[in-house]
Amino acid sequence: MGAIALEVADLSAGYGPVRALRQVSLEVPEGAVVTVLGGNGAGKSTLLRAISRTLAFHGGAVVSGSVRFGDRSLDGLPPDRVVAAGVCQVPEGRQVFARMTVEDNLRAGALGGTRDRTARAAALKRVHELFPVLAERAAQPAGLLSGGEQQMLAVGRALMAAPKLLLLDEPSLGLAPLMAARIADTIREINAQGTAVLLVEQNAALALRLASRAYVLEVGEVTLSGPAAELAASDEVRRRYLGVVDETAAADAADATAHHPTLSRWQEAAG
Ligand SMILES: Nc1ncnc2c1ncn2[C@@H]1O[C@H](COP(=O)(O)OP(=O)(O)OP(=O)(O)O)[C@@H](O)[C@H]1O
Ligand SMILES: [Mg+2]
Repeated sequence: MGAIALEVADLSAGYGPVRALRQVSLEVPEGAVVTVLGGNGAGKSTLLRAISRTLAFHGGAVVSGSVRFGDRSLDGLPPDRVVAAGVCQVPEGRQVFARMTVEDNLRAGALGGTRDRTARAAALKRVHELFPVLAERAAQPAGLLSGGEQQMLAVGRALMAAPKLLLLDEPSLGLAPLMAARIADTIREINAQGTAVLLVEQNAALALRLASRAYVLEVGEVTLSGPAAELAASDEVRRRYLGVVDETAAADAADATAHHPTLSRWQEAAG
């Protein structure tokens, strides 16, 4: 840790007239896990798409600001060059190729990375060690995997390009608590092996346990940031994102629930 791996500065982005990100700045130190929390529509996916340069696939564009990774600028690069630079995104909703086999899904992930056969074999070995089920089910269509297994495949596919930074878009979404915990364990393991992680989550309890630093995104703007432990202890985050209600905050929390229909999921996850 120490050096900055990813530096997002004053990033604004949107979809036609819709402004989804306003002057967002954040940093991911080398080897760190950093999380971005926020409710539905806060701009979390837009942020990851802006970093991976895939916004155009969704009809969006970066309006201003800059993204640097290590000593290079990612501004204006095509998505494959961002992958080649070492930044891989696991998209929201997994997006595995359902009719292709598990193995072919993983092969597709290696396309953006190195052409070196030994490096690819090493990447596949690492993925199979992290997720043995992907080796066992290699020949099956990916669509037959459970939701949790598909999430493992989506993460494994991104790891095939041997990224230095992994962008994860709500990996726990729709998973039972036990499976979400397993995904969290593997994120920890991937990070321990030297890959930095930018984790976008609505499951604040899970994300704050994994991350060293956290940002809260609300309607496209960073409203809070700091060490994850500090955010986890702050009244604001406890009330709005961890579902912890004290007497004085009860009225506010009820109000927040009305505006944030996903709070019930945070509450479950926090329990
Ligand atoms: N493809 C798109 N076209 C137009 N508007 C979009 C598109 N994708 C997102 N938006 C809008 O941009 C804003 C931010 O959306 P985004 O998907 O980044 O939020 P999010 O934090 O990822 O939400 P969620 O937790 O529901 O995935 C929202 O107002 C959303 O309606
Ligand atoms: Mg999203």
